[in-house]
Amino acid sequence: MTDAALIDQSPAWQALLKHHQALSSTTLEKLFAQNPQRGRQFKASAAGLYFDYSKNLINDETLDLLNELANSAHLTGAIEELFSGADVNSTEQRPALHTALRNPVSGKGEIATALTQLRDAMNTFADRLRQGEERGASGKAFRNIINLGIGGSDLGPRMIVAAFPELQAEGLHSHFAANVDSDVLKGILRQCQPETTLFLISSKSFSTLETLSNAGLARQWLSDAGFDAAQIACHFAAMTSQIEKAEAWGIKSERIFPLDEGVGGRFSLWSSIGLPIAIALGSQAFQQLLDGASAMDEHFRHTPFRENLPALHGLLSIWSINFNNHHSRAVLPYIHRLGELPNYLQQLTMESLGKRVTKTGQPCTYATGPVIWGSEGTNGQHSCHQLLLQGIGAVPVDFIATRKAHCQPLQHQYLLANCFAQSRALMLGKSYEQALVETLATGLEQDAATQLAMHKAIPGNRVSNTLLLEDFSPRTLGALLAFYEHSVYVQSVIWQINAFDQWAVELGKTMSTAVFEALNQPTSAIELDSSSQALIDHIQTPATGSPQPKAKQ
Ligand code: F6P
Repeated sequence: MTDAALIDQSPAWQALLKHHQALSSTTLEKLFAQNPQRGRQFKASAAGLYFDYSKNLINDETLDLLNELANSAHLTGAIEELFSGADVNSTEQRPALHTALRNPVSGKGEIATALTQLRDAMNTFADRLRQGEERGASGKAFRNIINLGIGGSDLGPRMIVAAFPELQAEGLHSHFAANVDSDVLKGILRQCQPETTLFLISSKSFSTLETLSNAGLARQWLSDAGFDAAQIACHFAAMTSQIEKAEAWGIKSERIFPLDEGVGGRFSLWSSIGLPIAIALGSQAFQQLLDGASAMDEHFRHTPFRENLPALHGLLSIWSINFNNHHSRAVLPYIHRLGELPNYLQQLTMESLGKRVTKTGQPCTYATGPVIWGSEGTNGQHSCHQLLLQGIGAVPVDFIATRKAHCQPLQHQYLLANCFAQSRALMLGKSYEQALVETLATGLEQDAATQLAMHKAIPGNRVSNTLLLEDFSPRTLGALLAFYEHSVYVQSVIWQINAFDQWAVELGKTMSTAVFEALNQPTSAIELDSSSQALIDHIQTPATGSPQPKAKQ
């Protein structure tokens, strides 16, 4: 471990602390009143995205200081390292290759060739499936494609496939089973016929419990339908970096779509893990998604931070978390098609930024990754926005909408009106005085009116970003996802942490293996804490006096 100065010791950080003090007496409302051009000034556009960040508690000086902070953290160099394939994943000595996947020709010779060949193989397979040319053991065309994967091998493809129902090939249905809870896959299988069902085992490591458990259930389902081993093999394909494991499981080698070790799980939808996208939406749409991401890559790599969308978003997140003490962020897409986006961003952000030591192994002396949550607008207005508006403690929001209508024009206008109104309500709130005028006007006695006004007052001064997609297309969605990936990278660079590993996840996996043994082997020597043991005892105590059956392996 080499000690490096922590970022909170830098002059830029210290200057931001002072600057925060100086700004604390102002409000968003005052900032807008002082500068009528503010909404036009604090915005940037690129790759089909319009980013309004004017409703952050910032001024020009804040941006200058954040720029200095980025320079102190050598952000420009770090961006170059990412794109040039340096080992930015320091604990696993690997690069992070997701940007190379969006633009294979930019890679080194043999990598570029391998990527292009893989993309061609994926596209051919996807297009053949869409045209009914890929067939199962009995010669019938596949009608149901079931992705078995979890985390990064599920969330991205699931979200994108759900976003474009109109692009799906007639008669071809896509499904996603992630949870180890067998009810999920069983529920899907009730809609399918063995002869026309193809399973995609999506697992970079080909060792994830949930995925292999579901794959086992799938194989059993085919076997129960009378398929022999050779016939079963016709109903599987796999996307993995562990070719040998997949072959040993029984996947035909020509049905294995490889994935480089250097592509992180949560950054992998651009790789062979994106096969369900190419199948469901077609290879052209998949290419457009990649092109949109690539356009955002170019913008991120070559644009000064003051106009650089992901850099601005990442730096404003730092401003929010480390200087304004906001440790959570809500993502609210006013686009039903993006209902799955908050889940996807949860993994991207929380698995990447939920770290407590720097790359050199020093404990961080500052807060890092935020809690990400959210739901689609307008649904959230009838569940969680009460807390956003009146709860104690502010939660910054990313509002997302489209400029051109993605749904019926009138309903699109309703969506936009609600989206913009929510960010205004967060910013302006309602003063106690305004609330009192309202309550008195209803004819209430003074005491009752005063009390009710306390409940109706809304603090305001709550910050948000608004992102407008030019239209809702695979291209703009690709740009949006790359925007968030790069914002995450920016934050990791400032915090000096590794965005590309996830060591803590391993602990849960190891412990669950031990608990599984304790649950299923009464003679197990595994020692557990008294709470876990009492829970197991409770499970194993038969309610009726007869012993509980052991879980089937
Ligand atoms: O949650 C941990 C994790 O390793 C994620 O990073 C990954 O996306 C997921 O599990 C699935 O992993 P795999 O693709 O290897 O099955």
